[in-house]
Amino acid sequence: MPQATYHFPRGFLWGTATSSHQVEGNNTNNQWWQWEAEGHTNGKSGLACDWWGGRWREDFDRAAEAGQNAHRFSVEWSRIQPTPDRWDEDALDRYRSMLRGLKERGMTPMVTLHHFSDPLWLYEMCGWETEEVVPLFEKFVRKTVGALKEYVSLWCTINEPNVYALSGYVSGDFPARNPGLKMAAKVMANMLRGHAAAYRAIHEIQLESRVGYALQFRPMVPKRVWFPLDRLSRNIRYAGLNMGFPTGISTGVMKTPVGNQRIPEAKGTQDYLGLNYYSVDTVWFDPRNGKELFTASGFPKDADMSDTSFIANIPSGFYETMKWAVKMYPNTPIIITENGVECADDHMRPRYLAQHIHQMWRAVNFNWPIKGYFHWSLVDNFEWDRGWTQRFGLWALDVETQKRTKRPSADLYADICNKNGLSSEMVKKYCPEVFEKMFPS
Ligand code: BGC
Repeated sequence: MPQATYHFPRGFLWGTATSSHQVEGNNTNNQWWQWEAEGHTNGKSGLACDWWGGRWREDFDRAAEAGQNAHRFSVEWSRIQPTPDRWDEDALDRYRSMLRGLKERGMTPMVTLHHFSDPLWLYEMCGWETEEVVPLFEKFVRKTVGALKEYVSLWCTINEPNVYALSGYVSGDFPARNPGLKMAAKVMANMLRGHAAAYRAIHEIQLESRVGYALQFRPMVPKRVWFPLDRLSRNIRYAGLNMGFPTGISTGVMKTPVGNQRIPEAKGTQDYLGLNYYSVDTVWFDPRNGKELFTASGFPKDADMSDTSFIANIPSGFYETMKWAVKMYPNTPIIITENGVECADDHMRPRYLAQHIHQMWRAVNFNWPIKGYFHWSLVDNFEWDRGWTQRFGLWALDVETQKRTKRPSADLYADICNKNGLSSEMVKKYCPEVFEKMFPS
């Protein structure tokens, strides 16, 4: 059996990612809390992981003891600005202590300023549907960055604007006031304007800041390559999901299948690209699915599927995603801001983790500028419309008792972080079923 270690560059960031609404608990003042109360989700966020009650301390301890040297979390706009005319200094203090908590544990913080949740007051005035949101977001960003800049210089303006727009306005899984395809494009355009305004504001406030956003990128393949309508559907879906923000940032014109938007101020507004990668979609033409431009997606029949069939384990897609990014933005640093899988009994996560890290190692070996990896997630948390039915944590959470239980993947990830690499021993120990694929003899 071959023995080897796939090493990563010195200073590589190894961490996990979380978001405010998913872990804090009692986020009563945002649109998700309301959406949950109306019964749209599979359970309610409730106390979540009780980070607002202080349990971030024990979770940060776990992360640090497991060798992680970074953590990505988000701040909750509705806490910092509970009404349009009020700042909550206590909330900002709470975030400051969390950031100090990371520093004390030797971990580099990355802060996301918007991760799917909006203050209710903003939602009531139509959220991201109108351009009015842009100066409001900028104001919130200025206040927050000013208050936290002592501890953090790595900022993520908006998490997955594409998923926010499409899950809310097209598929209907997320809250949205006036859904529809055209509105989805408008929302994405306003998010891009908001991002651009935030990018400039942050740089004004903090010279050394590095600012970007997180894109969920999904490689796609047509179901029947020989069938032109499947190929066309694949291209439409790919453009709609993947290319809006990226085209806007590289050219100042955001391109979508329902039209282009000139947003010149967006051009060049990223110091790094944040990539969230989960899986590859197989796409086909579906004449019944008008609301998604007659396209539909799924996974191959023989795929290695996750617990709730939400994710197919396709590590090559991760490599493709990084390859796309390097081609799209040569010389722009890349941070993997999310990657992970839902798996309650952890039978699949070790191989998913090892195989994806292996692909990242391949990328790093071409000298592609990949600077860090944040696994989704540290501990099971509230999975949006899917509620508590999906378990993404390295640690399991008992929602009733708040008890955390370590999954084997947490140990595998700790070995990877501590060694700054992935070894054949690790694969043999945690996921021997993929050994031959990863270390061919
Ligand atoms: C989101 C996370 C979410 C994860 C897993 C991403 O789309 O940014 O908030 O928990 O996927 O579903």
